[in-house]
Amino acid sequence: MKRTWVGAATLGVLSLVGCEQDETRPNYEYAPDMVSSVPYDSFASNPNTADGKTLLTPAKGTVPRGHVPLKLTAGTEAAEKAGRELRNPYPASPEVLARGQTAFQRYCTPCHGSGGLGDGPVTARFPVPPSLLAEHAMELPDGRIFHIITHGQGLMPAHGSQVAPEDRWKLVHYLRSLQNPARTARKETP
Ligand code: HEC
Repeated sequence: MKRTWVGAATLGVLSLVGCEQDETRPNYEYAPDMVSSVPYDSFASNPNTADGKTLLTPAKGTVPRGHVPLKLTAGTEAAEKAGRELRNPYPASPEVLARGQTAFQRYCTPCHGSGGLGDGPVTARFPVPPSLLAEHAMELPDGRIFHIITHGQGLMPAHGSQVAPEDRWKLVHYLRSLQNPARTARKETP
């Protein structure tokens, strides 16, 4: 019984300390070394490095692990070259299509619409894009579509910084799956 009282009193005192009213003074901190870390913060200046930054610039010519540099420049000529030379490295599979669909819904539907018809929600205020099920888009080679996603085209902004290269290829597969019914229908009409 006595112990309970002591416990309750301690808790009472602690909670009062926690409610100190002077807003101009910081409150008590528990384990302050966890709040303000001892090492230099990544973006803090640093007197020990050559350029005064904590986060070191990668040495010239180095490539992060798993990153494949793309020698893909912007412009129509490079887009045509990409169409001729680049091949989709991923075979179509349910997983690839599912990932392509996620990426399409995330990055493309605002303008192109969920079916690719060019009726996305932003088209009320943004120039309407051409249907991705139209003959022109169907005829675009995979590499050209990869290039369009990477660098944009005309009024379409580049998506190279948002969509990872592997997702761009998976998007191409998903786009083809959207186009397939229209393609078949076209072939059947004489
Ligand atoms: C901000 C709106 C917008 C977004 C987001 C967008 N597009 Fe576009 N897209 C356009 C417009 C506008 C065009 C027509 C460009 C032009 O002027 O040639 C276009 C053109 C295209 C074309 C060429 C069609 C043709 O027949 O020439 C493809 C392929 C395409 N987009 C795919 C995509 C994919 C895949 C995504 C998602 C990664 C995407 N777009 C995201 C607006 C957008």
